[in-house]
Amino acid sequence: MKPRILVTGGTGYIGSHTVVELQQAGYPVVIIDNLSNSNRAVLDGIEKITGIRPDFVEADCTDIEALKKLFADYPGIKGIINFAASKAVGESIEKPILYYRNNLNTLMNLLEMMGKEEVKGLVFSSSCTVYGEPDHNPVTEDTPIKAATSPYGNTKQISEEIITDVIRSGAPFKSILLRYFNPVGAHPSAEIGELPNGVPQNLVPYITQTAMGIRKELSVFGNDYNTPDGSCIRDFINVVDLAKAHVIAIARMLGDTETPAIEIFNLGTGNGVSVLELIDSFQRSTGVKVPYKIVGRRSGDIEKVWANPDRANNVLGWKADTPLDDTMRSAWAWQCRLRERGVM
Ligand code: NAD
Ligand code: WQD
Repeated sequence: MKPRILVTGGTGYIGSHTVVELQQAGYPVVIIDNLSNSNRAVLDGIEKITGIRPDFVEADCTDIEALKKLFADYPGIKGIINFAASKAVGESIEKPILYYRNNLNTLMNLLEMMGKEEVKGLVFSSSCTVYGEPDHNPVTEDTPIKAATSPYGNTKQISEEIITDVIRSGAPFKSILLRYFNPVGAHPSAEIGELPNGVPQNLVPYITQTAMGIRKELSVFGNDYNTPDGSCIRDFINVVDLAKAHVIAIARMLGDTETPAIEIFNLGTGNGVSVLELIDSFQRSTGVKVPYKIVGRRSGDIEKVWANPDRANNVLGWKADTPLDDTMRSAWAWQCRLRERGVM
């Protein structure tokens, strides 16, 4: 029997896909989520895919008493994957205290519980946002961190520093920091996927909602960048590929092999894809048109960033290999499922 894993934010977008992969790999999972950006129906989707309904605690990770109760009710937790965080860049500029409090208090509570409860490993959701606008692409894990341009981004940088300091202080556990590039797509079953609140800020949900007719047209923010077609370049990574890396990270920290107490990995494909290329991929793979217009640049956007994922490929034996067209089809299938369910 594999040890129990606590997944914070496990009903969210990346969390739910990771719970599926953990359960399919034989790990019992307990989710804690306050449902601030997700809903209980996600548990049905996870159960449909895996045949197992994960244990679920509706509570806030900033509430240390709730965490104490969770550890008492679910003994034997050996690993934590911390997805729980507020993640909207624009909102974080308007409500910095909310972001610092939610993201940092969550992390510190978990670190405190790990010491007390003999948890062996923490996987932390970091972001390529820590690299800002890099001087060179692709970025490796040693590419210098740039000053954060939003409180959200700053919470990721500070969280990485907090974890590093705690591990350096001799804490009796390990941590793996995963820097995600741009996670997109949905589970191929279309039972779970991304469910943005209100008007999507991110590109792929905006594309699928426009294709569905929920939005009139997509605005492409800028075609005058220093890139081959003038639109921004990103590293779009399939969410199931991304989820699988978490299972490997957990197994690595909980296994008997000697590994460093703290490790950092870029999770990306290694391919830079432009916004216009992504729209093309969606249209080609689904046969559905996305009306779009070119508008001015969005303030704060990075021109181009993509990953060098060699370290994750070589050390974790992990690779993001789902073709982009398949990922776009999965995003569309999920949007169609939401329509069938009358969600949107
Ligand atoms: P999400 O909003 O879908 O999932 C986060 C979940 O955490 C939600 O279900 C929310 O209800 C829950 N939550 C938030 N604060 C909580 C708290 N205090 N207590 C309990 N539950 C709480 O976001 P996601 O896209 O799945 O992102 C997961 C993690 O990955 C986040 O830490 C995010 O910053 C990070 N990340 C996301 C991206 C991306 O583009 N999606 C990129 C890089 C990093
Ligand atoms: C991608 C590209 C837009 C919407 C954000 C966060 C980052 C990370 C991932 C968490 C950009 C363009 C978008 C639209 C468009 N999250 N675009 N029209 O900005 O790379 O990263 O999510 O850590 O921290 O900043 O992702 O999906 O918003 O945008 O043209 O309607 O699509 O300008 O070039 P981004 P995104």
